[in-house]
Formats: sequence, C-alpha cells, structure tokens
Amino acid sequence: MVAPTHVIGPKVTSAIEAAFGEAVRGADPVLRPSQYADVQVNAALALAKKVGLPPREVAARILEHLDLSAECTDVEVSGPGFLNLTFSPEWLGSLATATAADPRLGVPEQPRQIVPIDYSAPNVAKEMHVGHLRTTVVGDALARTLAFLGHDVIRQNHIGDWGTPFGMLIEHLLDVGEGSSQAGLLETDPNAFYQGAREKFEADPEFATRARTRVVSLQAGDPDTIAHWGTLIDLSTAYFNRIYGALGVTLTDEDLAGESMYNDQLAGVCSELEEKGIATISDGALCVFLPGYTGREGKPVPLIIRKSDGGYGYGTTDLATIRYRVADLHADRVLYVVGAPQALHLNMVWDTARAAGWLPEDLPVVHVRIGNVLGSDRKILRTRSGAPMRLWSLVEEAVGAARLHIDGSRPDLSEDDRAEIARQIGVGAIKYADLSVAHDSEYVFDLDRMLSLTGNTGPYLQYAATRIKSIFRGLGSAPEDHAADIVLVEPAERELALHLLRFGDVVAAVGDALEPHRLCAYLFELAQAFSAFYENCPVLKADGPTRDSRLALCALTLSTLTTGLDLLGISSPDQM
Ligand code: ARG
Repeated sequence: MVAPTHVIGPKVTSAIEAAFGEAVRGADPVLRPSQYADVQVNAALALAKKVGLPPREVAARILEHLDLSAECTDVEVSGPGFLNLTFSPEWLGSLATATAADPRLGVPEQPRQIVPIDYSAPNVAKEMHVGHLRTTVVGDALARTLAFLGHDVIRQNHIGDWGTPFGMLIEHLLDVGEGSSQAGLLETDPNAFYQGAREKFEADPEFATRARTRVVSLQAGDPDTIAHWGTLIDLSTAYFNRIYGALGVTLTDEDLAGESMYNDQLAGVCSELEEKGIATISDGALCVFLPGYTGREGKPVPLIIRKSDGGYGYGTTDLATIRYRVADLHADRVLYVVGAPQALHLNMVWDTARAAGWLPEDLPVVHVRIGNVLGSDRKILRTRSGAPMRLWSLVEEAVGAARLHIDGSRPDLSEDDRAEIARQIGVGAIKYADLSVAHDSEYVFDLDRMLSLTGNTGPYLQYAATRIKSIFRGLGSAPEDHAADIVLVEPAERELALHLLRFGDVVAAVGDALEPHRLCAYLFELAQAFSAFYENCPVLKADGPTRDSRLALCALTLSTLTTGLDLLGISSPDQM
C-alpha cells in the first residue's frame, strides 16, 4: 500500500482509539486533499457528540496520540476541528519511488466480488442510437475498472432479441432471401430493414397474417423458425460487433445474454409468483401490485408479468434475469447500466424479486442511470430529418474530423499511421465526452468541443501522454528503463507527486461510487499538474540525480495517464 491515505488513515484510527477507548472502535476518519495542506483529516466532527467534547478539543486529543514524525513536517488543528497534514518531501519521494515500481501504480486489490454488469443491450434489427452509446461506454469503463480492482466482472449484454416484432422480421427476411442485399442491411443499416418489414406489415394483410403465425411458431420453438431467427440474430450481432470493434469496447459474443435466453423460465416465474400470492389476475392479466407504486390519483401501478393473451413481457424476462444473476452467477453485487427512464421498471422488478425471495435484501443492486445525449437544440440528439441519430455515423464523423486535424498537423506521418491515430482520437473524443460528465446528467453532443486539444477533453489527455512519450523517444529509451529515486524539491514537483499518489484512491472511489467521471477529472488535473511541472522544472537540462528523478516522475505520470485512460476504454496514440 503506497497511497499516503493508506498509511495515515490507520494511524489516525489507532490514535482515536488510544484517546477515547472502546466506545469509538473502528472509527473511519475521512481524509481528503485540501487547499490549506496536503491532506485534511476529518474525524473530530463525527466523534464530538459521541465523546461529549467540542470538535476542536477532540482533534487536539487525537493529535496527542498521533505520531506522524516520519511522514509529516507539520500537523495542526484547524477550522472547526480538522487536522491539517503537511507531508515531508522525503516521505512523499519514497512513496512515489515505490509507486513507480508497483505494476498496479498504487491501485488496491479489493476483496474479490462477483459483479454481473448489464450494459449496452441494443435491440436486434434496430439501430444502436446515442442512448446505447452511453450505456456501452459507461458500462465498459466500469467493467474495466472493477476488473482492475480485482473483481470478477461478468458482462451481460441483455440484447432485445425476442418478442412479437420477430414474426414480421423473420417473414421479411424470408421474402427478401437470407443472402440478399436487403438482408445485408441488418449488418449495415438495421433500421432500414426494420422499416421495410414494418411497411409491409401495415400495407399487406396477407404478410401480417404470416407474421402473426410466425410469432406463434417462434414461441412454440419450431426448429425451422428458430433457425431463421438465428440468422437474424447473427446478422444483428455482426452489426453490434462492428460498432464495438470500432469503439474499442470489450464486449464479445460470449457476453450475449439476451432476452431470449430466459424463454423457458418465464412460465415458471409466473407460476411461482402466483403460488406465493405475489401475483394476481387483474383484467385477465397476471400482475404484481407492490406497495408504494401508485400513479395518478393513487391508482396502483402493476408490473404485468403475463398479458391477457398469455404473452410475457419485458418485466417477466427481467425477473428471470435477476433470479439467474443471483442464483446461477452467484452475484455479490449487480449493476444495471441502463437509461434513467427505466428506473421505475427496474425497481418494480427488484422489489418483486425481493418479495419472491430471489433477491436477498442485503445484496446490492444498482441502477447506474444513464442520462440523455442532447443536440444543440437541447432536445434528444436527432438527425436533420428528425430520425434518431445513428451511432455509426457519429463515430465516422468524429474520426473524419480528427483525420482532418492530423493530416494538417502531421503530414510527415504515413497514411496508415494517420488513419490509425485519427481513429484513436475520434473515438477517444466521443468516449471521453461521454464519460467526463456524471452518467446521470444530460450533455450536449458537440463534436468541435469534444475534439478540441485544449480543455477537459480526450484529445487533450492523449496529447499530454504523447508529449511524455516523445521525451523518451528523444532519449531512445523506454520509460520503464528510467527507474530512479524520486526526490522532491520544487513545489511543482511536489504537487505532481502528490497527485500521482492519489491514483489508487481515485480508482477505488470510481469502483465504489460507479462514477467514471471522477477518473476523468483526476486525469485532467494530472495532465495540468504535469504541464506545470514541465514548465517549471527542466528535465533533460538537469543533471545527475535531479535529472534521473525527474525522468522517473515523467515515466510514472505517463503510466498513470495511460492506465487511467485504458480504464476508461480510451487508447493512447504514440504521437499526434
Ligand atoms: N434493450 C433495452 C433497451 O434498449 C435495454 C435492456 C436493459 N437491461 C435490462 N435488463 N432490462 O432499452
């Protein structure tokens, strides 16, 4: 453990116990960076009531039992009862040196938990829209971060691959022919395929009848129908995979766990809920009425689990899904990275599952709410013609714009290199813009701002990393060859080191709070701290141990930046 907080925290806890005895055992002081000191400890405020003393007095007593002579040059009681700590440069230097030698860069390995993450979840034969972009990008960042923290992440891509439209889609596929260019639309422009089916369904009664019969065969598991359905799914997943590939998203076919997976469990879900007296028939439909879910005029809102025509719906599948994640995947914590408007649906599903005993009360299930992506008119992002914005065209537009930049600024690079760098920058820009705002707030999609090389953007961070890479390229050596004792003398050097030492705490906090934007903010500040260091502290012109130390700081900054970007799913070009 190399983060300063991990050394100081337990010492403060012991001092509290030494000062106040049994009554305060296990006290958990809050440590945070402060503008008045390196770290501010807040323990006294919470304890004051418990021990019956004014907070400043509590802080003073803790201080009497706190020996930080090895770590700090100054410790003082401040404000309403904080302890302000100023670390000694020697201690910070030794921590930074140790962190540079640590392959985990100070990121703690947490006790392993099994964490299914439901994210992306596009619908078959439909375009992935910007809403899917956000759940995909945020979900993937969380999956990467939790895996890095030592958890057993199980990606669950709950695609919409079942339901009544499939009768119509299968019949349309058969009409146009499985190898036809029309069928090929599923892989390039799925909405166009869907529209084709829809129009026929509405205009042609004979087709509509065939489509309805087809749904019945599909639900009955008719082998021929299932085979055609499989073709539809394959074409659609090829489309999803192309987008995942372009975006550098870690989802694979192994992670597909769509609605259809739960088909044979739906009848059982219903009968069990009926037997347990949780579900009741209302207007011919099987419904769950839960306390606390009421609509207008206090009318109870049901979760419909079997429609009056005997069909099952989205809620039934989701009940089977949560049951599976708990019982079969043995989840310790379950995450749903899903649009904010689905909050009511998810809460009803979980409460029903709790009532049925499928979801233990103490098992954390979290809805990571995804906010809307807006156009410049502050309405949901759409194309000029009013259609939902296609994800693919957004990616192409961003990569195209990045390509113009790089063609202008680096004509010396080869065509292939420029194409690859443009892809990294364009995709990084979109992803970073998405990740750097709180996942539950809205943001305006503004390609120019996202691609800007200044400000809190992906390209700015990528550029900061390439600048450090170029230092080592100039020396003709790899950053890892520059291990050395880090010695902190200049204020900018010290600031940079302090910032680098926070990485582990920040990554842990992202995993706990499920908020990738905290990592973005951290990396942005890190890039700024590095700039200040680089402006104020000559690296290559210094000599002896100072030069070695500064190069080691550069190397640690680089690996922290690239590791942080990688946890966000953003790649770091070698040059730009
Ligand atoms: N396919 C759904 C949609 O596009 C999202 C599914 C989310 N996951 C779930 N378990 N309900 O809105």
